[in-house]
Amino acid sequence: MKRIRPKKGPRLAKAWGGRFTEPTAPIVEAFTSSLEVDRHLYPHDVAGSLAHVRALVRARLLTAVEGRRLTRGLERVRRELDAGRFRFRPGDEDIHMAIERRLTELVGPTGGKLHTGRSRNDQVALDLRLWLRAECTRQGAAVRGLERALVDTAAAHRAVVLPGYTHLQRAQPVLLAHHLLAHREMLARDRSRFLDCYKRADELPLGAGALAGAGFALDRARVARDLGFARASANSLDAVGDRDAALEFLAACAITSVHLSRFGEELVLWASEEFGFIELPDAFATGSSMMPQKKNPDVAELVRGKTGRVIGALVALLTTLKGLPLAYNRDLQEDKVVLFDAARTVGDCLAVLTAMVPRLRFRVDRMATAADGLLLATDLADALVERGIPFRRAHEIVGGLVRHCLRTGCALRDLDATTLARQSPLLTPTMLRALTPARSLARRRVTGGTSPAEVARQLRRAQREVMR
Ligand code: ARG
Repeated sequence: MKRIRPKKGPRLAKAWGGRFTEPTAPIVEAFTSSLEVDRHLYPHDVAGSLAHVRALVRARLLTAVEGRRLTRGLERVRRELDAGRFRFRPGDEDIHMAIERRLTELVGPTGGKLHTGRSRNDQVALDLRLWLRAECTRQGAAVRGLERALVDTAAAHRAVVLPGYTHLQRAQPVLLAHHLLAHREMLARDRSRFLDCYKRADELPLGAGALAGAGFALDRARVARDLGFARASANSLDAVGDRDAALEFLAACAITSVHLSRFGEELVLWASEEFGFIELPDAFATGSSMMPQKKNPDVAELVRGKTGRVIGALVALLTTLKGLPLAYNRDLQEDKVVLFDAARTVGDCLAVLTAMVPRLRFRVDRMATAADGLLLATDLADALVERGIPFRRAHEIVGGLVRHCLRTGCALRDLDATTLARQSPLLTPTMLRALTPARSLARRRVTGGTSPAEVARQLRRAQREVMR
């Protein structure tokens, strides 16, 4: 991140300096400043101030002329910030102070009226909620982008079979589309978590003042409507001290990250020589500076690795909050450091995976070979059940055959009649020849199962959802 170098210039008196006899020590100024981080809040800070100006005019705390002057001033400040022309000054301790300071330079003493009935405590709580709402929408859209990539890839590989795993041991054949749609389900829940977080963030804290409520009759419901909030907060102490929506956002980020990390882990495994299930596009892989033959899945690894930081962000904010008495405490300033980092990180991970997924090449033959053989043992047991054998007994019979196969190196399908008869009179070579991955898939017609018909149905559902 580009560091801000405040322009040299006269040190300005602090907005709160009236009761102080000594200037703030430079080391304290540097230590307490949040400008480096919270300057990213400026569009929200300006939007909040503009709404506050309208509320002050309605409450006749500002004349219409003063209101227009402040509005024009704030818009000019926003343009300066947009264009990167805004000059930060030493002593601008955060973005709120910097904007108000500049506004006052532009409009004169009327600038001093902007903060009527407002504290930085409800101001920063407002900015944060505006930011959270925008960010929930942005993350939701990014999640949907990756969902779409997975759905499209599933649709393009409807007939591909691979082993499904439990304990990372080959278990039963599944469709690749089924596997990809499993990841899509996780993301669909992630998207709904961001949506839920939006709903909880959708509350106006402005008007809470420093902690006890503004001392002027401001119409908070009106301000809430003005800024598109569903409601105004019900308790001023809570409004300035609460960071639940931030926690929920970080929880949604952390869970999303964990999902992306699990997907990343599979890509790493699948790209290995041992699995050989995918070929990474060259544009999404890296080489080794020493070993010329290497092609490394660094993107997937970094997605997995960055998850640590996102989980850390959630834990950091939970820990910051856990000992805080009501209402605002300066500790809360630390929220933005982790929020901004987590949001950027998750956004980056989603974007890079969305770009990479359509370019994965699946090694269908390798997957199919790995999905055959002993993976059909359950289907054989199921076939015995259809002939009246209790499942537990069928399991035991097939277990005996598996043991025999492992000892002799013979494939399940090739066992001879004598061996079969030794295990059960019901077993025939015809039954064994009927064992194929395709039939194994077709049996699993239950809702949510891996049969081609059911996967096609789930795919259509997913397509409808990601297009909405
Ligand atoms: N920079 C502060 C923050 O992010 C703004 C609120 C400051 N309030 C105060 N009472 N010092 O939390």
